[in-house]
Amino acid sequence: MKKKIVIEYQEFKSIDNLSDEDALLLKEAISATDLSYSPFSKFRVGAAIRMANGQILKASNQESTAFPSGLCAERSVLFYAFSKYPGVAVEAMAIAARKGRKLTATPTRPCGACIQVMLDAQKRGGKPIKVILGAAEKIEVISSINDLIPFSFDNL
Ligand code: THU
Repeated sequence: MKKKIVIEYQEFKSIDNLSDEDALLLKEAISATDLSYSPFSKFRVGAAIRMANGQILKASNQESTAFPSGLCAERSVLFYAFSKYPGVAVEAMAIAARKGRKLTATPTRPCGACIQVMLDAQKRGGKPIKVILGAAEKIEVISSINDLIPFSFDNL
């Protein structure tokens, strides 16, 4: 039997079309790109999360001379959050990236390894994590990590 998975998400033209709290989160992600350490790829990624306790945390990608030792912005911020507030759910994550001074034209989607950790975070928190992917030409909003990885690994 042939089956089909349909994934719905929202697309906005500008940050002004987001709610105030989502716009703020995206601005934090954009500002986090300033602190990226990416001398090798020159790709500056920022991720910001809003937690159920109202905290907003942000981080950026960090690269290493020992190439695979670096870490993406998304996992950096999540591991930091769970080191600091292990019992607090993550409600939303915003992601933005730039090469040079300008924001990427189209959204940067999280890599597979990050999506798995985002799914773990969603399970830990017990509620859907909204993902806001910011870029110069459009903004995509995904309402749950399951929509980023419909066939997910799950042994928890
Ligand atoms: N990177 C992230 O930080 N997040 C992503 O979602 C994709 C890639 C980083 C890893 C590396 O430092 C650089 O971007 C180029 O791949």
